[in-house]
Amino acid sequence: MGIDGYIGWPLSLRLLREGHEVTGMDNFYTRKRVREVNSDSALPIGSMKKRISDASSSGLGEIKFFRGDVSNSEKLHEVIKATEPEAVVHLAEQRSAPYSMLGLKQAKETMVKNIVSTINLVYEVKDQVPDCHILKLGTMGEYGTPNIDIPEGFFDIEYRGRKDHLPFPKNAGSWYHWTKVHDSNNLMFANRVWNISVTDVMQGVVYGTRTEEISDPDLYTRFDTDEVWGTALNRFCAQAVAGLPITPYGKGNQARGFLSLEDSVSCLALGISKPPKKGEYRVYNQFDEYYTVNHLAKTVQEVYGEETGKIAEIKHVENPRVEMEDHYYNPENQKLKDLGYRRKRELRQEISIILEDLSRYRDRILKHRDSIMPRTLWKA
Ligand SMILES: NC(=O)c1ccc[n+]([C@@H]2O[C@H](COP(=O)([O-])OP(=O)(O)OC[C@H]3O[C@@H](n4cnc5c(N)ncnc54)[C@H](O)[C@@H]3O)[C@@H](O)[C@H]2O)c1
Repeated sequence: MGIDGYIGWPLSLRLLREGHEVTGMDNFYTRKRVREVNSDSALPIGSMKKRISDASSSGLGEIKFFRGDVSNSEKLHEVIKATEPEAVVHLAEQRSAPYSMLGLKQAKETMVKNIVSTINLVYEVKDQVPDCHILKLGTMGEYGTPNIDIPEGFFDIEYRGRKDHLPFPKNAGSWYHWTKVHDSNNLMFANRVWNISVTDVMQGVVYGTRTEEISDPDLYTRFDTDEVWGTALNRFCAQAVAGLPITPYGKGNQARGFLSLEDSVSCLALGISKPPKKGEYRVYNQFDEYYTVNHLAKTVQEVYGEETGKIAEIKHVENPRVEMEDHYYNPENQKLKDLGYRRKRELRQEISIILEDLSRYRDRILKHRDSIMPRTLWKA
């Protein structure tokens, strides 16, 4: 679910390569919303028909596709019935924090679409394929930035002399992030009452243009650069390539977990090939390392300078978000390593590849340059 997206497309290529049968579902929501802010993927991507045919010509295999909205329970019912999946990866949600903060319409749309899509999936699995593994994309942003270490989902607590092992408190920073918290609660509950097997992935911010399967431009995945749909490091790279200032928000001391697209896809594929036990609810914190926004901006500036001899300016802009700019941050990420995950891509190496790929599409980024600077204010 969400096969046309930034992560969904390369994940489906990886799963094909690993020998899985892959069926995708998407309603092209992200394409539509990105067009509405006068932007477009910086890397050109074809129609789903063309993408499937290119994946097939490259020898990776055949993808079946259903166009449809996963928050429409009848449509989802049809797709689950036709495919009887052993695992469903649920990536198909409104995934922009700024979009969810634009106003009531967008906040409601995010709440309804995201939470309903997950509850639809839970019921379809319970009723039609009870042994199916749900692998659901949440976000590290569910935890917020507490002043204590962040465990993977659960922690031991002692309060007024009594002890328990409880879900770690969530403290999200946008309506979007709160929908992911609600999804997590709903999945945890579905697991408790119906024994549904769930992997709930608290994913960091993903960066990159390539995975091992993306060998030529016909197989590119989307790459968003605008302030609503683009994410931090990817946008910094696009800004450098377009000759625009790199714009950390506020002081830039905010720390977050990050991982490359290659590493994200590897982790998700690993989660599928090593599913949870029947009736298990497991939570992974999925990121390689955590960095401050300033560190990322400086690293992009350095790599860009080394490769082009040009200087990319760093310009701090007023923080449009309501968030702590100086804070403690120490999340754990041991469980995926225990499952066998090893990081493949280093930050500088990946930035260099992103800059190289984007430099071929500088004109596409510049065409939409007005959509890059932040405008969506949390306090508006
Ligand atoms: N990219 C990141 O840095 C990141 C970080 C943490 C978590 N995530 C999560 O990972 C998932 C995938 O992210 P992405 O970056 O690939 O986003 P994306 O927007 O590129 O992909 C999501 C795909 O789902 C589709 N979709 C959305 N709503 C749908 C619906 N109701 N019915 C059918 N299709 C629908 C979209 O059209 C899109 O193709 C999201 O759930 C996101 O919240 C992403």
